[in-house]
Amino acid sequence: MVTLEHVSKHYQRKNVGLEDVSLQILPGEFVSIVGQSGSGKTTLAKLIIAEERPERGRIVIGGWDITRIKYGEIPTLRRQIGVVFQDFKLLPRKTIFENVAFALEVAGESNARISSVVAQVLKIVGLEKKMDRYPDQISGGEQQRVVIARALVHRPKLFVADEPTGNLDSINAQEIISLLQKINEFGTTVVLVTHNREIVNMLKKRVVTLDHGHIIADQKAGKYLL
Ligand SMILES: Nc1ncnc2c1ncn2[C@@H]1O[C@H](COP(=O)(O)OP(=O)(O)OP(=O)(O)O)[C@@H](O)[C@H]1O
Ligand SMILES: [Mg+2]
Repeated sequence: MVTLEHVSKHYQRKNVGLEDVSLQILPGEFVSIVGQSGSGKTTLAKLIIAEERPERGRIVIGGWDITRIKYGEIPTLRRQIGVVFQDFKLLPRKTIFENVAFALEVAGESNARISSVVAQVLKIVGLEKKMDRYPDQISGGEQQRVVIARALVHRPKLFVADEPTGNLDSINAQEIISLLQKINEFGTTVVLVTHNREIVNMLKKRVVTLDHGHIIADQKAGKYLL
């Protein structure tokens, strides 16, 4: 589902993002990416969704070589990936329904299809009863569940979440992780970037540890190392 071959990415002033990283994630896997601040986790997530480009190496997503993806092809790629980043916000003047519907409207879907898909994904995250509320009328954990619902509207085969539990207390964080597990059980490959030791140790899934842009550990049923 995700293949990186000898991928390197540096930022200005020789800041190392990733250095010669090779990684293969199979369809249906649930992989946590961990490591200290600045170790390259977000860089890895951004390369997978073509938000950044590598200067060396090759990246293949679902059989598609995106190493030199054209700008105009990025929306097509993004529709195949559910993306949740920490700074993703809901639109404050739109209801929960409208926030989720927006991604489908942009893609030119019919109103009938939009209603049915939005109802479906809001049910998955347990918020179908609150779809007429505005973001400031629901809790932080609920808002994050809406963000996840929005990322599910195109039924992605791959789900990439960068610190989706970052601003949440441990009960809400646990709920988000349960949701990611549910999405994974439906067959979607999940890549979870996280700092949360408790969650990683509880998941008992594959853990890839980054350090200064390098993979320093890749464990099958891993533990939080650093
Ligand atoms: N836009 C940028 N310009 C310059 N350097 C950058 C940029 N983005 C990231 N970096 C640098 O690349 C390295 C990896 O950053 P990255 O954001 O991938 O780390 P991270 O593991 O996600 O950290 P955190 O846990 O703090 O989110 C860091 O040294 C960072 O300073
Ligand atoms: Mg980061």
